[in-house]
Amino acid sequence: MDKIVQFVQKSNCNATTVAVFGAIGAAVVAFKALSLFKVFVDVFLRSGINVKKYGAGRGGWAVITGASDGIGKEFAFQLASKKMNVVLVSRTESKLKAIAQELEEKYSIQTKVYAMDFTKGADKDYQALQQLLEPVEVTVLVNNVGTNHEIPTPFEQETDKIINDIVEVNINAAMKMTKIVVPQMVARKNGLIINLGSFAGLVPTPYLSVYSGSKAFLSSWSQAIGAELAPKGVTVQNVNTYFVVSAMSKIRKANFLIPMPKPYVRSVLGQIGISGGASTPYTSTPYYSHAIANWLIDNVFSRGFWVNKNYDIQVDIRKRALRKREREAAAAKNE
Ligand SMILES: NC(=O)c1ccc[n+]([C@@H]2O[C@H](COP(=O)([O-])OP(=O)(O)OC[C@H]3O[C@@H](n4cnc5c(N)ncnc54)[C@H](OP(=O)(O)O)[C@@H]3O)[C@@H](O)[C@H]2O)c1
Repeated sequence: MDKIVQFVQKSNCNATTVAVFGAIGAAVVAFKALSLFKVFVDVFLRSGINVKKYGAGRGGWAVITGASDGIGKEFAFQLASKKMNVVLVSRTESKLKAIAQELEEKYSIQTKVYAMDFTKGADKDYQALQQLLEPVEVTVLVNNVGTNHEIPTPFEQETDKIINDIVEVNINAAMKMTKIVVPQMVARKNGLIINLGSFAGLVPTPYLSVYSGSKAFLSSWSQAIGAELAPKGVTVQNVNTYFVVSAMSKIRKANFLIPMPKPYVRSVLGQIGISGGASTPYTSTPYYSHAIANWLIDNVFSRGFWVNKNYDIQVDIRKRALRKREREAAAAKNE
């Protein structure tokens, strides 16, 4: 404060100049406060587009990739509870069949399952899926399947397999699945595509560089096709996700910042078409604590600050992961 006063005195600023700068400062603060207020209104008060618009209860089908666990499984349950028929896709057929049976019995809906490994990127799988989906009215696609680095790893040390798997699952699968279902959505002028984005796509994440880049792709691509498809009646929503309890996150206990899949997916489906904490178009950060974190990232400190923060966090996680690997290797030797 003293420095500002000295600067004002030294630079012979007159009252008008001070008033102008003061007014600009007040306007910036007011704008920021308003944008934070809008985040609170979005996540606590507004309701998004009802999934009934996308055929729930009227024979519409939702296709969910990575549907046998975590967030994808929860999407399957919540969409089925809203009377959407569901197509479940992941690698493990036994899990898919058990979930499908449970959903049919619990919610009296129809189901289809298809087991495939998205890392293979096999044309025969996508062709089989296309045939499976052709006769049904697909109104919702949840591009949920995702894969990550095993542990935070410097890019030059990462294996080619992991790099290729991330690109195939996180990027190519989303595009190929969308290519399959979009023509029928456009023909009916009705559809919803939810892409599972990540904070790693919002702020570049060192040591998870390929995962982070894949989610940044998803963000940019979602915004581009979101604008293309909106006039054709199809809603695209990239969902900025911070940590959620799941096998992928390796987090087992929920807290204020890290919800279980159930409340997380409820927030996504409750805020279709609403941005929450996100500041980019065709994007949503619907879970309240994630929304506040998203707002802070966008409004407090520079992007460089957050990238460096991510770097420090991942270096620490890598150290602990390497120590755990050493312990496990030593234990295996002693067996
Ligand atoms: N959890 C988080 O903290 C978090 C944060 C940000 C973003 N996300 C995103 O949310 C999405 C879901 O993550 P999650 O945490 O729910 O993961 P998860 O609990 O590990 O579940 C992953 C699902 O995908 C399936 N799957 C994995 N690899 C597959 C492959 N190669 N081919 C076909 N299916 C495959 C798994 O089933 P099978 O093993 O049976 O195939 C499972 O159903 C991902 O896109 C992730 O990037 C998660």
